[in-house]
Amino acid sequence: MDDVEFEHLDRDATRAIFSQIQTVYAAAFPEYSLDGHRDRTFRQLKVPGFETVTARSNGALIGFVYGLPLGEATGWWRGLEPPRAADYTAETGARTFAVIDLAVLPEYRGRGLARRLMDELLQGRTEERATLATSPGKPDIQRMYQRWGWREVGRVPGGEGATQTAFDLYVISLR
Ligand SMILES: CC(C)(COP(=O)(O)OP(=O)(O)OC[C@H]1O[C@@H](n2cnc3c(N)ncnc32)[C@H](O)[C@@H]1OP(=O)(O)O)[C@@H](O)C(=O)NCCC(=O)NCCS
Repeated sequence: MDDVEFEHLDRDATRAIFSQIQTVYAAAFPEYSLDGHRDRTFRQLKVPGFETVTARSNGALIGFVYGLPLGEATGWWRGLEPPRAADYTAETGARTFAVIDLAVLPEYRGRGLARRLMDELLQGRTEERATLATSPGKPDIQRMYQRWGWREVGRVPGGEGATQTAFDLYVISLR
């Protein structure tokens, strides 16, 4: 996989390649609506600090990961079970980076690309912790994150327009 190139993209650069991102997203999440993905992502792209890392082979996009810092008014932790103290879920816009989507094309899987994408994204962040939301129906993916050092915090209901009725939230310290 030495021929794979990784690149960090800001909001404008992410918008510019959004159709490529959707092609990989469609292959990775065939069960989810592309319109829903577009609506969610363009809302998320309004948040300063949104960042993408891409993986390319011979110029073609083969994987990506992106996320954004949680703002003060975030609903990320709303409805968390078991509940946490208010100081655990308090956000400032600079405390927690939420990883939103991670995907690798099927033919490039099993070679460490997802791990490298995640490491590349998180090692440059200045927040104190990162979080992600996983599907309760994907235990293999949850075990993958656990092996990578993420810890389960609890379950939240899926919000309006979400892909799931519930999400299991994970957290990892970045310091
Ligand atoms: C999940 C996904 C991103 C992993 O991509 P990948 O590049 O194959 O991942 P890696 O090669 O870095 O391997 C990740 C881990 O999964 C394991 N793994 C890889 N392929 C596997 C397979 N076919 N079966 C079981 N485990 C596998 C690896 O052993 C590795 O474990 P380790 O890090 O403890 O060694 C990819 O399968 C994907 O896009 N899936 C669909 C979208 C999705 O579910 N995204 C995550 C939820 S948002």
